[in-house]
Amino acid sequence: MFAKIASSGLFGMEAFTAQVETDISGGLPAFDIVGLPDLAVKESRNRVRAALKNCGFSFPVSRITVNLAPAGIPKEGPIYDLPILIAILCATEQLDIKAEKCLFVGELSLKGEIQPVRGLLPMALHAAEQGYEQFFVPYENRAEASAVRGIKILPVKTVQEVLDHLTGKIEVEPADAHNYEQPPVRYADFAEVCGQEAAKRAMEIAAAGGHNILLIGPPGSGKSMLAKRLPSILPDMTFAESVETTKLHSIAGVLPKDVPMITQRPFRSPHHTVSAVSLSGGGRIPKPGEISLAHNGVLFLDELPEFPKATTEALRQPLEDAKITISRVAGTVSYPCSVMFVAAMNPCPCGFYGHPTKRCICSPTAVSRYLGRISGPLLDRIDLHIEVPPVQFDQLDSKQKEESSAEIRERINRARKRQQRRFGDSGIGCNARITPERLQEFCVLSQEARDLLKYSFEKMSLSARAYDKVLKIARTVADLDDSEVIELSHIAEALQYRSLDRKYWDQ
Ligand SMILES: Nc1ncnc2c1ncn2[C@@H]1O[C@H](COP(=O)(O)OP(=O)(O)O)[C@@H](O)[C@H]1O
Ligand SMILES: [Mg+2]
Ligand SMILES: [Zn+2]
Repeated sequence: MFAKIASSGLFGMEAFTAQVETDISGGLPAFDIVGLPDLAVKESRNRVRAALKNCGFSFPVSRITVNLAPAGIPKEGPIYDLPILIAILCATEQLDIKAEKCLFVGELSLKGEIQPVRGLLPMALHAAEQGYEQFFVPYENRAEASAVRGIKILPVKTVQEVLDHLTGKIEVEPADAHNYEQPPVRYADFAEVCGQEAAKRAMEIAAAGGHNILLIGPPGSGKSMLAKRLPSILPDMTFAESVETTKLHSIAGVLPKDVPMITQRPFRSPHHTVSAVSLSGGGRIPKPGEISLAHNGVLFLDELPEFPKATTEALRQPLEDAKITISRVAGTVSYPCSVMFVAAMNPCPCGFYGHPTKRCICSPTAVSRYLGRISGPLLDRIDLHIEVPPVQFDQLDSKQKEESSAEIRERINRARKRQQRRFGDSGIGCNARITPERLQEFCVLSQEARDLLKYSFEKMSLSARAYDKVLKIARTVADLDDSEVIELSHIAEALQYRSLDRKYWDQ
């Protein structure tokens, strides 16, 4: 006897429909799963056998062959338990249902409870596109795909519940995204940061042009405080951005239970003990890393020199390409990771190198060893450097009202609109992503600006790379000033954000 039940699978970001074909024939009892299953899928046999018995069915004493089609794509994880069990019941005529338009995914416990799975959102999007009408999903995943249109998401807790629904005994209530309307997350606000005008200005420029930024300063000067407030001034997420970011969280299995869709820009701040794989992505069963979970938002590495060089080195390519590619036996998968990269660090081990009043107790070699822990290529990916000086007492004490994030954001939205108009459909999203060959075209300088740049280039002995960065930052400063031509003052300000190169790294 033969039965076919639809399920789903993931290969990188993409979902595919998997058909679970089951054949029951005479001969010696056996239970084989074919079609590129991984170890977790092979172990399905034990779970399905136990779950069937514990749900009161008999396990066929025959030769069972399960084929997961298409055979060319690897099948990963324990998500096929439920469709395999349903297919066996149909093939042995213990269950008589029409399920052509239904999909099933779920890991089973030995008692027949359905456990949550990763990657439901891309699967549901794909299933809806393919014309499937009902998707049986683990109850724990119920919010996840509920915003997908055109397909009923049926959250189920046990095998019994699935069978009762299929045979018309009960009706499972479909998940509805409207049930999960949550109050918007409130970011910390820039109004809470006293003084620090220069640092705030640098954060504004970084946000306006999508530039990566490094904050250097003594402990307690407010570096972490400033970084955490960055998402509050970034433009709203578009719907397409939301879907992509949510997909990545879904695939990583980290989407909270009651969140159907991520609508706030993510802020990820992994600890320095994070492994290279958890940071960039990969692993035996590939998963998006922190950098992809931060997609369309902010990746913040606090205390940058504490991260092992090998870990941060792995970020270089993904930061450059805005995607990370992982090689697999069956081909490569890639996850997007378009992030604003923000890093913070003390200038030396004791933290007071260059401090106006406190004395640094580190030897010059200790200082340079400390700074040397940051790899040059990573430093190369950072457009802006800013020194965050210690806060003055009278700044903390002042009654002056600080500008709110909403006010800053208005200027940033305007500058971003300008960039959108300029770049059109060239594929460049923001100033930070201007390609070297198009730099001249988009960064038109006034004569004075050009003269200053030439003079500084020679005086500061800037590298060619630093030159590109100064131009891009000046482009953003001009955009904030609503000017298409880059003027003298724009270049002058942009040059400030490169001065730390020479102070600390002698680049
Ligand atoms: N400019 C500031 N305005 C208000 N509070 C500040 C400011 N700078 C620092 N603080 C206070 O000091 C604390 C430590 O700041 P933090 O951001 O952790 O410093 P850092 O990361 O530079 O070591 C903050 O939680 C905040 O309470
Ligand atoms: Mg800190
Ligand atoms: Zn020191």
